[in-house]
Amino acid sequence: MWGGRFESGPAAIMGEITPSIDFDKRLAGEDLAGSKAHARMLASEGIISKDDGQAILKGLDQIEKEIAEGAFSFKRELEDIHLNIEARLAEIIGPAAGKLHTARSRNDQVVTDFRLWVRAACERTDHGLLALQRALLAQAEMHSGTIMPGFTHMQPAQPVTFGHHLLAYVEMFGRDRGRFEDARKRMNESPLGAAALAGTSFAIDRDTTAMALGFARPMRNSMDAISARDFALEYLAAATILATNLSRIAGELVQWSTPAFGFVKLSDAFTTGSSIMPQKRNPDAAELIRGKTGRVLGDFVALATVVKGLVLAYGTDLQEDKERVFDAADTIEISLAAMAAMIADLTAQPDRMRAAAEPGYPTATDLADWLVRVLKKPFREAHHIAGSIVKLAEGKGVTLEQLPVADMQTVEPAITKDVLAVLSLDSSVHSRMSLGGTAPARVKEQIAFWKGQLK
Ligand code: ARG
Repeated sequence: MWGGRFESGPAAIMGEITPSIDFDKRLAGEDLAGSKAHARMLASEGIISKDDGQAILKGLDQIEKEIAEGAFSFKRELEDIHLNIEARLAEIIGPAAGKLHTARSRNDQVVTDFRLWVRAACERTDHGLLALQRALLAQAEMHSGTIMPGFTHMQPAQPVTFGHHLLAYVEMFGRDRGRFEDARKRMNESPLGAAALAGTSFAIDRDTTAMALGFARPMRNSMDAISARDFALEYLAAATILATNLSRIAGELVQWSTPAFGFVKLSDAFTTGSSIMPQKRNPDAAELIRGKTGRVLGDFVALATVVKGLVLAYGTDLQEDKERVFDAADTIEISLAAMAAMIADLTAQPDRMRAAAEPGYPTATDLADWLVRVLKKPFREAHHIAGSIVKLAEGKGVTLEQLPVADMQTVEPAITKDVLAVLSLDSSVHSRMSLGGTAPARVKEQIAFWKGQLK
C-alpha cells in the first residue's frame, strides 16, 4: 500500500512492532462507516465517478457482512484495520478500491474512527451509570428511614439513614454522567477531511461527511484534527474519576458485608467461597471493582505520557492511544454492570445497622444543640458541657438516654428532663431537616427528585 519508493522490505522485527490490527480491529465498524461517508461524498462531489462510488459502497457492505459473520480474515502483514479493509475491498471490487483513499490519509481516518468509538463508549457508560443510579435509588427508597451510624474518621459521628447514604452515591454517579456527557459533546467534531495534516487539494465537502457520521461539525483546523488526543484523555480522566467513585462504594460493601459490621448481606451470586475456610463469603466482585481503579488510572497516565511533548502533527506514537482506551472502557463497563447488579441484589440488615448506631454517643451533638436552643448557651460552651456529660455516661457504661437527668445536672444544673426528647437515634435523625439533611422527610424529597431525573 505504501511501498513505491522502497527497494527492500522491512526488517522482520517491523512485522512485530508495527501491526496494530490485533487491537484496532475493534474499530472495524467505525472504519466502515467513515469510509462509506467519505465514498458517498467523493461521488456526490464528482471527485470519483458515481459507478466507482457505488462499487466501493457495495464492497464495503460485503466486508461488513463478512466481519459480522466472522468470515473476515485479519492479517498482521496489513498492519492495521484501515489497510486490512482496503486490501479486502480491492480483492472484491478490483482497482476502483484504490480510489477510496482519494483526499484522505490514514491519519484523519484513524482519528475519525477513534472519535466515533470513544463517543459510543461515552454513551454506553452513561447507560451503565443510569442503571447503577436506578439500583441505588430503589434501595434508598426501601430504606429512607433505616437508621445506621454515620461515620467521620471512621468513628461514630451522627446517626444517618441508609437511604441518605446511598443517595450520596446517586449524586456522585450523576456527576460522573455529566463528565462523560461533557466529554462526548466536546469530542463530537469531525476530523475527516484533514487528510495527512494540511487538508487536501480536492474540493471535498467536510460538512456532509461530518453530518453523515453524526458529528456536530467539522473540526476547524486540519493539524489539530489529526494531532489532538485530548478527547481520549478526557474520556480516560472521566473513567478514572468514575473508577475512584466506584472504588469507594466497593470499599463500603466490603466493610458493610463483613460479619463485624453485618450492615448488608450480599447475595450468593456476588460472593465466593474459600478453598480452605468453609465459612467464607468473600465479596470478590466488590474487591475487584475496587482493585481495578489502579488499572484505569494507569490507562490515563499511560496515554498522557504518550501525548506529552509530542510535536504536531501525527506521530506513530499515537497508535498507542487505542489499547489504553479499550482497556479502560472494558474495565469501567464491566465494573458498572457488576456494581449495579450487586446493589440490586443486596439485602440491608436494619437491625444490625441500628445496633451499631447505638454505641459511641452519636447524639452528643443533639445534646449540645439542645443546650444552645433551650438554655441559650454559646455553642462552644454547650460542646464542652455535652463532652463532660458523655464522659460521665461512659464512666457509668450507659448511653446518653440512659443517664439519669440528675447526673447531667451535676454538670449543668439547668438541664431538665425535656432533654431526653433529643437524645434518641430516631429524634436525632428526624431533627436533621436542613436542606440536604438526613431526616427521612428530606431523604424522601431527594428520592422524588431523582425519580424524576432517572425516568
Ligand atoms: N495504525 C495507525 C494508528 O493507529 C493508523 C495511522 C497510521 N498512519 C501512518 N501514517 N502511519 O495510528
